[in-house]
Amino acid sequence: MVDAGPFGALRIAPSILAADFGALAREVERIDAETDWLHIDVMDGHFVPNVSIGPPVVKSLRPYSARFFDCHLMMSDPGRYLEAFRSAGANGCTVHVEVGGTEGLIADARALGLRVGLAANPDTPFERVAPFLGDIDLLLLMTVFPGFGGQSFMAAVLEKVSQARAEVDRAGLELDVEVDGGIDESTAPLAVGAGANVLVAGSAIFSRADPLVAARTLRAAALGARE
Ligand code: DX5
Ligand code: ZN
Repeated sequence: MVDAGPFGALRIAPSILAADFGALAREVERIDAETDWLHIDVMDGHFVPNVSIGPPVVKSLRPYSARFFDCHLMMSDPGRYLEAFRSAGANGCTVHVEVGGTEGLIADARALGLRVGLAANPDTPFERVAPFLGDIDLLLLMTVFPGFGGQSFMAAVLEKVSQARAEVDRAGLELDVEVDGGIDESTAPLAVGAGANVLVAGSAIFSRADPLVAARTLRAAALGARE
């Protein structure tokens, strides 16, 4: 089993959505030294207006990385595919609270031995995810509307990140708080300052001339905000 690491530790999770799909294995290997988790964006063309990748790609990538595979399921019916992702080599699966059936999805993911994540869109209030915080390992707060990489960070979500962190600390929960969308060296410190500890970044890593240097810069910026 791939270790996810301690709850609350700072983690950089490069999103392969922004990588060259024709050379994914090479891209993943290239960024390995600065990868804590590898973020894999799954889009079904229904929950979000875009289609990306599915279990076969996860399976193909698995031999090229020993990192934690953090699968973000932007799908209307994620329950149908949890087992396929698990068998393909996913370590964690995150489902969206907006699709409903959350309790059952969490139980199914848990039964499969997956680390369990719950995601909320920018306009979904904290109250929607609050009842589940004790049952999940990861809360993903989207800082853009899901569906596409390269969008601008929505600073309004920072308040929700702070709310989540306050509740995690108050209740002493074992929970990671992840942000996804528009994270770069200038927005990462804001998210970390508000209480996020897992940073997903696509464009700010893979669209740069040297992804490894870009990821290192991102980590340094994030660490600065934790001092
Ligand atoms: C958006 C995805 C993100 C995306 C982030 O729907 O969930 O993971 O890849 O891309 P950037 O970092 O470019 O905003
Ligand atoms: Zn994502």
